[in-house]
Parts: sequence; structure tokens; C-alpha cells
Amino acid sequence: MGNRVLVTGGAGYIGSHTAVELINGGYEVIIVDNLSNSDRSSLEGIRKITGIEPTFIEADCCDREAMRRVFENYEFDSVIHFAAYKAVGESVAEPAKYYRNNLDSFLTVLELMKEFGRNNILFSSSATVYGDADTLPVTELTPRKPATSPYGNTKQMAEDILRDMVAANEGLKGIALRYFNPIGAHPSALIGELPRGVPNNLVPYITQTAAGVRECLSIFGDDYDTPDGSCLRDYIDVVDLARAHVVAIERMVEGKSRERYEIFNIGTGRPVSVFELVRGFEEANNLKLNYRVAPRRAGDVTAVWADTTLANDELGWRAERELRDTLRAAWAWEQSVRQ
Ligand code: NAD
Ligand code: WQD
Repeated sequence: MGNRVLVTGGAGYIGSHTAVELINGGYEVIIVDNLSNSDRSSLEGIRKITGIEPTFIEADCCDREAMRRVFENYEFDSVIHFAAYKAVGESVAEPAKYYRNNLDSFLTVLELMKEFGRNNILFSSSATVYGDADTLPVTELTPRKPATSPYGNTKQMAEDILRDMVAANEGLKGIALRYFNPIGAHPSALIGELPRGVPNNLVPYITQTAAGVRECLSIFGDDYDTPDGSCLRDYIDVVDLARAHVVAIERMVEGKSRERYEIFNIGTGRPVSVFELVRGFEEANNLKLNYRVAPRRAGDVTAVWADTTLANDELGWRAERELRDTLRAAWAWEQSVRQ
């Protein structure tokens, strides 16, 4: 049972890459997803990469009875909770949808873990919890700023729910991983990000522009107080990010956690500007991108990147993939989707 993991949202972008790394690490994976932002092609991709088809249950994590059946029918000691909505702008327009889905799904999973005596929970948090931080790079102890979107608020609230649930339930251990900006795709180009409609995030917008699906990339602001005037972010390869989940699960399963609730930044530790990323994409893939400078996007922070010392030292994890390889994989994935 120790080597079985329930992965909610496992058909999605980060979940599918994590399922691959878990399977490659000898874990048995059970995926629950309602396919609200993904489809079964990712399950097929996982099977092709690993040779193993993960168990898949199509269900909504907010549906307590459906989730109860999952807990009744499958033995697992660990859960990775990816299931959530993630579009920042949409969360501003439809806050109730975000609070309902992101909090209800998590509470349902946590309550069932308590009821069924399942012990280890890994939660997908986000660098968004830091907001516009006063000091950079951010460490796990950098104070969180009030959230600037309902989405960001769900991540802060879910972290606090996890902290309190762990404190109240002695058997429970939790880890929140604060992801920085996940990008790229599996080098096989069999799984990757599948944004619906117009992408919000930079790299899918770049790859769709290169593919001719979008006419022109808008660079949101060149007048920030940064070396080249564009924003700075910490872009983490999705396969590196997926590996962090495997070591975090191992830490809990093997009883190596220092505290029963722990938080780790998962990034590269290196700030990269929007212009650098665009140039890196052009060079890595030997093409020219159509872009123009546009006004700043509301809500963007000037800069955020991770201090990853804690993840390096405690998890023994570090980002390994070169940005150029990540940007090649992103383009290979986009091309495979367009075929
Ligand atoms: P994604 O949308 O590709 O994956 C989320 C998956 O969860 C989807 O397959 C979706 O169908 C499923 N889902 C949503 N609500 C559900 C529900 N109620 N029941 C069952 N399944 C449900 O997103 P992703 O990029 O893989 O993100 C995974 C997690 O990581 C999310 O919690 C997200 O907030 C968090 N995160 C993502 C980023 C990022 O930039 N991608 C950054 C930081 C944190
Ligand atoms: C990156 C940079 C934009 C699109 C978001 C969420 C965050 C987390 C990760 C979930 C910024 C610029 C973008 C474009 C651009 N997700 N940009 N033109 O905003 O750092 O983080 O995803 O937790 O919560 O807010 O990522 O990829 O949208 O933007 O110039 O068309 O690219 O201004 O500087 P962001 P992003």
C-alpha cells in the first residue's frame, strides 16, 4: 500500500508528468480526474511512455460519494492533490467557481483520508502565494502577501487548511510544494500542456504563435524596474517539477519528514525575463517569433524567483533540465498537437 498513490487531477498537465515519474519510480498510480480541463489522451501518453496504464476513475473530487467509493475500492497511503481550476483571470470573474472547486475538492479528499486512515498528502501550491514579495529570491519563510486573485486565495487558504488538518490529526503528514512557473513537456512529446482557448501563460502563447495559431505574442510591459524592462520569473521544467513530487512522497512514506507539515519551493532559483525567454525559444528552435511590446497586464508582479535551498538540502532535489531543452520540448509538443 505504501507504493500506491492516488493522484487527483492526474490527467492534467503537471499530474500526467508526475504519474510518469511515479510509475518510473516503481509506484502504482490511481488517477481521479473529472476531465474538466484535460482529456483521455494524456492517459494514453502515460501508457506509451511507461508501458503501464494507470488505473483511471472519471470522477469529481467534490463528489463525496464518488470519492468515498475510490477510497473504499483502492488501497493507497499517499495522495497527490492536483485537482483545481487554475486560470487567474477567470477566478476574478467567477470567484465562487474557484472557491467551490479548489477548496471543496481538497476538503473532501482530506476528510476521506482521515476517515479511511490514509496518511500522506501532497498539495499543489504556487508561487502566487508570495504575491509581490518585499525580498527576492523568496524563501519558504518569506511572508505571504494578501492574495491578488481568488485563485491565489484558494492556494493560501488550502495551505492553511492543510496545516490545521495535520495539526489536528496525528496520523497525517502533509507537504505543500510551491511551484514557480512550470513550462515544457515530456521529451517524448507524448504528454504536455493542453490549454483550452486562448492561452493565459507565456510559453503556450509562444508555441501557438510559432505554430501560426496566434498571430503575434504580446509582451506585457517593457518598462518594469528590471535589467531589460520585462518581468522576471522562475521557469521550472515540468519533468523536473514532476520528479520533486516523487521525492516528496518518498520523504513522507519513509518517515523522513522533519515536521508533519512542510513547505518547499520548487523552482530553478534563476530569474529569467520575458525577452530572454522569447530569445531562448527562438535560438533553441531556430525560428523567429512574431512579437510586439504591449501594455503591462493587470496583476503581474515585477519579479519573483525561488530560493530553492530547502528543497535542495532536505529533498535532495534540484532542477536539472537546461532551459534550451525545455523550450525545445515545448515546441516539439506543440508540433505534435498540431499534427
Ligand atoms: P491542469 O488543469 O492541466 O490539471 C488539473 C486537472 O484537475 C485537470 O485534468 C482537471 O480536469 C482536473 N480537475 C479540476 N477540478 C477537478 C475536480 N473537482 N475533480 C477532479 N478533477 C478535477 O492544471 P496543472 O497545470 O496540471 O495544475 C495542477 C495543479 O498545480 C493545480 O492545482 C494548479 O493550481 C497547480 N499549479 C499550477 C501551476 C501552473 O502554472 N500550471 C502553477 C502553480 C500551481
Ligand atoms: C509569465 C510572464 C507575463 C503571457 C501564472 C499564475 C501563477 C502560476 C503560474 C498557478 C509574465 C508575461 C505572459 C503573454 C507575456 N499559476 N506574458 N505575454 O503570471 O507569472 O504566473 O502562472 O499557480 O499563479 O499567475 O505566468 O506565464 O502568465 O506569465 O508577456 O501572452 O510572461 O506578463 O511576466 P505568471 P504567465
